[in-house]
Amino acid sequence: MKRKVLSTILAVSMVATMVVGCGGGGDTQADAPAADAGTEAPAEGGDAAQAEAPSGVAADKEGGKVGVAMPTQSSERWIKDGGNMKEKLEAMGYEVDLQYAEDDVQMQVSQIENMIAADADCLVIAAVDSGALTTVEAQAKEAGIPIIAYDRLLMDTDAVSYYASFDNEGVGTAIGEYIKTAKDLDAAQAAGESYTIEFFMGSPDDNNAVLLHKGVMDVLQPYLDDGTLVCKTGRTAFEDTCILRWSQETAQQWCENYLTGYYADEDLDIACTAFDGFAYGVKAALQGAGYTAENWPLVTGQDAELMACKNILDGTQTSSIFKDTGLLADKCVTMVEAVLKGAEPEINDTTTYNNNVVVVPSYLCTPVAVDKDNLQEVVVDSGYYTAADLGL
Ligand code: BGC
Repeated sequence: MKRKVLSTILAVSMVATMVVGCGGGGDTQADAPAADAGTEAPAEGGDAAQAEAPSGVAADKEGGKVGVAMPTQSSERWIKDGGNMKEKLEAMGYEVDLQYAEDDVQMQVSQIENMIAADADCLVIAAVDSGALTTVEAQAKEAGIPIIAYDRLLMDTDAVSYYASFDNEGVGTAIGEYIKTAKDLDAAQAAGESYTIEFFMGSPDDNNAVLLHKGVMDVLQPYLDDGTLVCKTGRTAFEDTCILRWSQETAQQWCENYLTGYYADEDLDIACTAFDGFAYGVKAALQGAGYTAENWPLVTGQDAELMACKNILDGTQTSSIFKDTGLLADKCVTMVEAVLKGAEPEINDTTTYNNNVVVVPSYLCTPVAVDKDNLQEVVVDSGYYTAADLGL
């Protein structure tokens, strides 16, 4: 069965997708955003049928069509990711169909179906729900279209060739180490002192979130165990702290509930959040509860978004994790070249990323913790932002 037949089948097929909810805790999750704002997919037809090539490697030819499926435009990092991929691939002569699914699983499935129907030569996917694309991934495989997982591992499929990401457990470790050093937890431990802490972790359908939580707990669990860190809600397990679809609104709502229910008589000292968007929600909740510079907690984040960097400079966020999306796109592009032209991709991990079916050869970039002290050096001197972007 080849592309044209498949297009017909796809045109009439509906893929039922189950959205996995966050497990424990009983808190109300905010709904995922409405699914009406996806970027249109003006699928340009008709690249002539491509010659068969062995083992999923497409025939050598100038350019080719790459479908890039991104999860959402609601956070700055994905806009940068999509823009980088499009720019770099186009500069190399590829035609690019870039789509955003606005955190809607079915919209992403449809977008990928359209890419397959439009004879894409390769798919680059950053999933909304990492385990919800297995049917459409199988369809791509059947049509001989290789898939590269971008930043988020694609789970439960053998249709993925490579994975470009960051050291996701390392992101969690960096967050944990940041808290440990900034609060000098060893000194607090020796002195019998304690800090209060609450956790706001990532989406349960994103493998990165699971790894991040593990990295955080590798560092902080001993201090929770001996009482140096006190989590008054008792919510430290992943299933009790994960926030579906990385919703900023849910993080704010949780923080408001925690501050009212558990911190009326004692300040929250540390908000350990897994995402800059959560840090924004926490900031709003803290402001609403009357926190000021005097008692503002340590607030972590991830992505070093521009807004987060500005908040770090004004003191309403303490740290973030810088992930160089330009570098990630560079590595991903080498994987596109590998599957389309038989080139050697850059790989630095062949053991860690088991998606329950296969271990996916990966390139992992290194995350870097940033705060007031190194922000200029890491995000400005590197050219990621200009000083003017940050109002410096
Ligand atoms: C990414 C993070 C991002 C989060 C929310 C994760 O998969 O690795 O960088 O903050 O999604 O968009």
